[in-house]
Amino acid sequence: MDNSESKNDKTIPRVKEIVEDMVDAISGVFDKHNVTFDEYRAGFFHVIKTGQANELGLLMDMLLCQRVCDIEMKGRKGTRSNVEGPYFFPDAPLVTDAAKVRGDVEPLQIQATVKDLDGNPIPDVDVDLWWADPEGKYSGYSDDFPLEYFRCKVKTDKNGQYSILGSMPVEYPITTARHGPTGALVDMLGRQGMRTENMHQKYNKEGYLPLTTQAYFRGAKFIDEDPVTAVFEDLIYDLKEEDGIPVLDINIVLDHD
Ligand SMILES: [Fe+2]
Repeated sequence: MDNSESKNDKTIPRVKEIVEDMVDAISGVFDKHNVTFDEYRAGFFHVIKTGQANELGLLMDMLLCQRVCDIEMKGRKGTRSNVEGPYFFPDAPLVTDAAKVRGDVEPLQIQATVKDLDGNPIPDVDVDLWWADPEGKYSGYSDDFPLEYFRCKVKTDKNGQYSILGSMPVEYPITTARHGPTGALVDMLGRQGMRTENMHQKYNKEGYLPLTTQAYFRGAKFIDEDPVTAVFEDLIYDLKEEDGIPVLDINIVLDHD
């Protein structure tokens, strides 16, 4: 019986090409470091433990996600694409002037101007914003911290701008399970496990490439030692101040679809 036809039907050339290259690349690392059986087993048991702890997404985001963002930027112009992270929810409430916050927050005016590559403002852009609360946590992960807090949707006005009152995000550990497998790997790599303060954003408008990015704060703690390696100078902002309130004034440029 000739199985070659049905076998070939299931081949996905892109998957074959990438997986075979990944195996080659990893094999090269094994050769370079003369990896032993003990090390080989310790490595894959750590991956199994990471899966059992439901931290595989976290591990992949920590080690590799920004590289995919960087690749995306090879084929587009405008504001840099940056790690989405695990805390985005699509159903945040639409607001016009203020997001819902709670606790001992420091107010932050979050504003932006969204332009095209020629510098023309883009109205009616759908924007998602989400950030950490004063304890470094993101909403939506428990009934007592519903997702209408510390996240919102806004729309740009006719000048391509939005401005809402929110709160200063704070730094947070990339894994709350500090003794989990991802935290253990961070320790073994000699890295620190705190993400610097960040403001997550998504921009969507028909005719333009969707953009997921972040804004960072100059001088913030851990900004020079990001465990996710996603902090770039062009995404770091100096805070302004208006009427005694710090203002994050973001510049966004969207590329055409
Ligand atoms: Fe974040």
